[in-house]
Amino acid sequence: MVSIISIKSKKLSGEIFVPGDKSISHRALILGACAVGKTTIENLLESQDVLATLNALKELGVSIKKNQKIWEVQGNGLGSLITPNKILNLGNSGTGVRLLMGLVSGCDITASFIGDESLNSRPMKRVLVPLKQSGAEIQSDNFKLPVTIKGNKIPIPIKYTSILSSAQVKSCVLLNGLTTTGKTSYSELVKSRDHTEKMLHFMGASIQSKYLKDGSNRIELKGLPYLKSKHFKIPNDPSSAAFPSAVALIIPDSDIKIKNVCLNDLRTGFYESIREMGGFIKFINQKSISGEVVGDIHVKYSKLKGIVVPQKRVPSMIDEFPIFCIVACFAEGETIMRGIKDLRNKESDRIKEMVDNLNEFGFSVKSTTDSISIIGNKKVNPKKEIAIDSKFDHRIAMSFLCLGLLMEKGIKVNNAETISTSFPGFYNIMKSIGANFKKYRVIE
Ligand code: S3P
Repeated sequence: MVSIISIKSKKLSGEIFVPGDKSISHRALILGACAVGKTTIENLLESQDVLATLNALKELGVSIKKNQKIWEVQGNGLGSLITPNKILNLGNSGTGVRLLMGLVSGCDITASFIGDESLNSRPMKRVLVPLKQSGAEIQSDNFKLPVTIKGNKIPIPIKYTSILSSAQVKSCVLLNGLTTTGKTSYSELVKSRDHTEKMLHFMGASIQSKYLKDGSNRIELKGLPYLKSKHFKIPNDPSSAAFPSAVALIIPDSDIKIKNVCLNDLRTGFYESIREMGGFIKFINQKSISGEVVGDIHVKYSKLKGIVVPQKRVPSMIDEFPIFCIVACFAEGETIMRGIKDLRNKESDRIKEMVDNLNEFGFSVKSTTDSISIIGNKKVNPKKEIAIDSKFDHRIAMSFLCLGLLMEKGIKVNNAETISTSFPGFYNIMKSIGANFKKYRVIE
């Protein structure tokens, strides 16, 4: 087990790069496998989650290798996927397993999926229900992993309206739609991250997205597209960038820049909320790369005030709520987050982990099934180091390590190795701008 201790630090300063975007990395590998020809990928996030998807694709018969710094995916079209010899283990990765289940359901193969303890307890009904429409045969107990899917030889195009705003469900349905002869249609009440749509369009698929009168978003994809193999240059991850940004906002005199970050507006809700709180956040040097807006984020220490986060913004900051809670603890007044029930279905129950731990420190935090409210600016400084467990949730681990940088006696996070599922290099990158971290490897 790895434990990291974080202790009160002086201002953060400097310029950093965080690793490549996790969502786009999964998709570049999967869509590369669907194309015909060699897809090349620059700045792939080499984290445990993405490597789990990469290894599962290899089991499905796709040749993937690294040449210098560039990953090469040899796509032979969807018809070339094979029934794997072993169960596909996606580790901690919800994105990996849900997207691959969509892909497999549309192919004439059979595959079984499993994950680690956290992934095995997460709900899969959200993807298995629409996938049944395509005619896939699905075996599962209580809609949880392990799941076995026998894909339909001639899949029926799915027509689905989701009550969840979930890019994983949307992408799962769209990937299934690639092998159908008709039109797949997917509607969501609030638009979720659209990397899959953008990347499919970039590769030549006929895919349209439009807002309906009631404000919902509908995507239509024509089946059997010829997907051109492309070069993907992956921008850096705005969800990882949220951690150094949060610390810079709350430690006096901090001033940092985070370079080449994906600034797709369906991913930047955290930064929008911080601006509303009075935080100094500037997006600079913006440009378009492979269909995505990319730029640098400039963050300075700011005096913040509490806000009510608009519910429509929730999908665009869904992964940032744990670290947003930490920031809210240092804002004047109350911050309210509603409509966040799905946080209970992430790598851990993130509402419970944030609320229980913050209350243990002495912050004023309350929750309901689908909301958190925090009264900030309370002077909290425990008299001794407090230890918390990551619950194998990378974002919980990183959020409390960020909080520890404001505590005289520090915070110890156990099972901190989970951080490498999304942000390998977190420890050194944060240290390079002034974070006071110490690492221990505990031999069990
Ligand atoms: C992701 C979508 C989100 C997010 C996850 C990555 C994706 O999940 O929480 O980290 O890459 O599609 P949901 O779609 O379940 O909200």
